[in-house]
This record gives sequence, structure tokens and C-alpha cells, in this order.
Amino acid sequence: MTFEKNILCIGAGYVGAPTMAMIAAKCPRYKVQVVDIDREKIKAWNSDQLPIYEPGLDELVKKTRGRNLFLSAEIERGIQECDIIFVSVNTPTKGFGQGAGKAADLQFWERTARQILENSAGDKIIVEKSTLPVRTAEAMERILNGNPKGIHFDVISNPEFLAEGSAVKDLESPDRVLIGSRETPEGVKARKAIVEIYANWVDRDRIIESNVWSSELSKLTANAFLAQRISSINSISALCEKTEADIDEIASAVGMDSRVGRHFLKASVGFGGSCFKKDILNLVYICEGYGLIEVAQYWEWVIRINEWQERRFILNMLANLFNTMAGKKIAILGFAFKADTGDTRESAAIYVTRGLIEEHAQIVISDPKALDNARKDLHDVVDRVAFEPDPYKAAEGAHALAILTEWGLYKELDYKRIFKSMVHPAFIFDGRNILDHKRLFDMGFNVFPIGKTPLKHF
Ligand SMILES: NC(=O)c1ccc[n+]([C@@H]2O[C@H](COP(=O)([O-])OP(=O)(O)OC[C@H]3O[C@@H](n4cnc5c(N)ncnc54)[C@H](O)[C@@H]3O)[C@@H](O)[C@H]2O)c1
Repeated sequence: MTFEKNILCIGAGYVGAPTMAMIAAKCPRYKVQVVDIDREKIKAWNSDQLPIYEPGLDELVKKTRGRNLFLSAEIERGIQECDIIFVSVNTPTKGFGQGAGKAADLQFWERTARQILENSAGDKIIVEKSTLPVRTAEAMERILNGNPKGIHFDVISNPEFLAEGSAVKDLESPDRVLIGSRETPEGVKARKAIVEIYANWVDRDRIIESNVWSSELSKLTANAFLAQRISSINSISALCEKTEADIDEIASAVGMDSRVGRHFLKASVGFGGSCFKKDILNLVYICEGYGLIEVAQYWEWVIRINEWQERRFILNMLANLFNTMAGKKIAILGFAFKADTGDTRESAAIYVTRGLIEEHAQIVISDPKALDNARKDLHDVVDRVAFEPDPYKAAEGAHALAILTEWGLYKELDYKRIFKSMVHPAFIFDGRNILDHKRLFDMGFNVFPIGKTPLKHF
């Protein structure tokens, strides 16, 4: 069968593989290949046990795999066969040298660009799917177009706005798709070729075209704004705890103002995930580079408030557990950075667990999807932590429960049964404000929500 377009994606992670599975599902006339250097991951993508958990992803992959979606480790062949190449490799925070701890580490991106160049015999469109610093396209153009073969590459920015936990839904009906290019005739032509792909299922008025720098910077800005809302509400949660105001009531009153909106106003133990922290640090680094120190500091505080909120949670536990957690069993319910994913990157649970271990608490971690990742995150302290998929068993003999992920199942647990199995007085620290606090208090628990007056029996 001849396909209308041959599309390649380099990087089969949380973004690359689901995005390509959606393109394959919506565009049966296109051949979509996904390649990765990680052979184990590719093996998993081709098996019944996909390497990541996302609601609806199994069905999407099953429907398309082998039909017009192909996942392999054959990067060079993929590059040779395709003329539109999405690059969705990881862009973590740089851990060394200049900009360590802030700048984006672009080594994976640059390596990929050079590999594309080596294996190309004709013109290609390269799509930045990874989140990148503003003006990365310029560097990529220099690397790619400085070739002696006379091949021309157009670099397009098409950042991904999906959220883990709802990736399939977000890909199927995105709020918007952003596609940026140079405003030259070739740039606009390349941009239109990418618009054409998404127009197969996304309403044309949701596909935004822009210049390439706006597109790159929009992604960093979107993540900065989302994280800023969380840090804003979390900062007020601390004030609520001092004044008997209730953070959920405030979020509801403030969010009903249509200029503010109600999303992302849920107070919690802090945000996690692979993107918010790294993207804001990257934004901070870029601003510093342009001498915009006040702007850099403004955004840096979004991260500092988040770290402070995580630390505050630990100190609150310590203060209320009679200033000692040494030898006490603490059950952590939820380790993923949010519900409906097994991803634990930068999860607040990592920070809280390590803080509790420093206090010599005995930790038991429960999570429906994230225990494998939790084991990896805590590999250096596994002798101090137990992992238990069953939340009831995790809670047995515990002095306190800490809810760190908003999994729906934690709202449905039989807390009477749990209360009976715990050491008394029994404590619940609800780091996601998802439980019925009054009901738990009436059962006998001492309850410590975020941004609300604690309910204590003493
Ligand atoms: N995870 C999210 O929710 C999300 C959302 C939007 C944007 N992003 C951005 O998308 C990009 C990818 O994120 P992710 O979460 O999918 O990362 P990931 O770590 O899950 O996946 C990246 C993949 O790229 C592969 N890779 C690295 N170098 C390679 C190379 N030279 N050749 C082939 N494969 C290579 C890795 O093996 C890995 O499987 C990042 O820039 C991230 O900021 C992520």
C-alpha cells in the first residue's frame, strides 16, 4: 500500500508515542513511524504491556499498531524513509557546566539533528515537538542547513500541550494546536504541511499559526502560567491555615470570576511532573541570559513557593506527630505526581518521602500504577521503605496516612476499617484535599488538610 505521507517521530516517550498513535488513528492514509534508542522501551511498545499508563492508550495503540503505526529502534532507516520528522526527545535540566540546574540540556536534540543530517538525501521538514528554549530553531537551522549536500531543512515548532493522565483525550480534542515557522515562503509552506496533518481531526479555528519564536516561547509561558496558579493558591493556603479561612471556599469564590477561571486552583502538597520545574528553570535561565533579572526572579519564586509548600507539609506532619516520627510507621497513599498516570518524575511524594526518612520514620508506599517508578526513584533508600499495592495493608499499624496523589480510589476506601487497623491516635494528612474531612474526624481521625483548619480530638 502506498501512503500519502511518511511521518517519523524520534523519541517514543510520554509525548512522542501517544501523539503519533493519535495521528495514525486519525490519518489512516499516512504511515507513521516512531523510533527510539531505548530498545527495551520499543519492545514494550510492541507488546501488551505498554511502557506507560494513560487512560485509553492501550486501545489507541492496538487499533493502529501494524496498520499504519510502526515502532522500532531503526532510527537511520526511519530518517531515510520520511520527509516529515517530529523530534520528541527529552530535554532535561542541564546537570553540569554553565547553566547547571537551570538551562535545558540540548545534547539529545543536537545529536538527533546531526543524525538526521547524516541520513538525509533530500529536503525535509523537522518539527520541534520537544519543549525547547526560545530561538532553538535558529541553532537547529544552522546545524542542519550548513550541509555541503545542498539539502534544505525547514524547522517548525509544534509544542505539545497534552497533560499526562488525560493525554489521549487532550490529543483527540486539543484546546489548540500551535504551529510556528519562519515567515519565508518555504517556512510557510512547511507550516501548512503540518497544519494539514492536524486538520484531519482538529477544527481549523483551533489550529494556530505563528512565527517560530512565539511558538517556542508560548510553550514555556503556558507551563509557567499553569505552575504559577498552583503556587499562587498554595501560598494562600498557608495564610488560610493561620486565619481559619478555607482554601477550597476561596478557590471557588475567586475562580468564579470569569477573568480568573476555575481551573488549576486546587491547593495541594505541591506540583510535580517532568515539565513545570524544568521549563520554568529554563525560562529563568533565558531571562537571566538577556539581563532580565527581575523577570527571572519573578518566575523563580513559583518554584521556590512549590519547594516551600512541600517542606511545610513535612514540618506540619512532624509538629503534629508530637515532634517525632522516629520509628513511626507512615503510610503514603499515592506516589505518582498526579492521578491517572504512573509517572513519578519530580513528584512531591519523592521529596516528602525523603524528608520523612530523614526523620527516621518507617515508610510504606502504596500506589495503583507508580510502584515500579517509586522503587527506581528511591533506589538508594529502598532498605528504609516498603512498597505495598494494597492500601489497607499499607495502613495497618500506621500512625499516620499521607495522601499525596489524588487517585479516585482513595476517596472510596473504607476508612472505618483503616482506622481500626491503625495505631491511635490516628492521623490523616490530606495533601490533595480530596477526602471528606468531617466524616473522617467523626470516625476518630485527626485530620490535617491543606489550607483549612485541622480537625483534632485534642
Ligand atoms: N511528559 C509530558 O507531559 C510533556 C508534555 C508536553 C511536552 N513535553 C516535552 O516533550 C519532550 C519529551 O518528553 P517526554 O515526557 O515524552 O520524555 P521521555 O523521556 O518520556 O521520552 C523521550 C524519549 O526520547 C528518547 N531519546 C533520547 N535521545 C534520543 C535519540 N538521540 N534518538 C532516539 N531517541 C532518543 C528517549 O530514549 C526517550 O524514550 C520534552 O521536551 C518534554 O518537555 C512533555
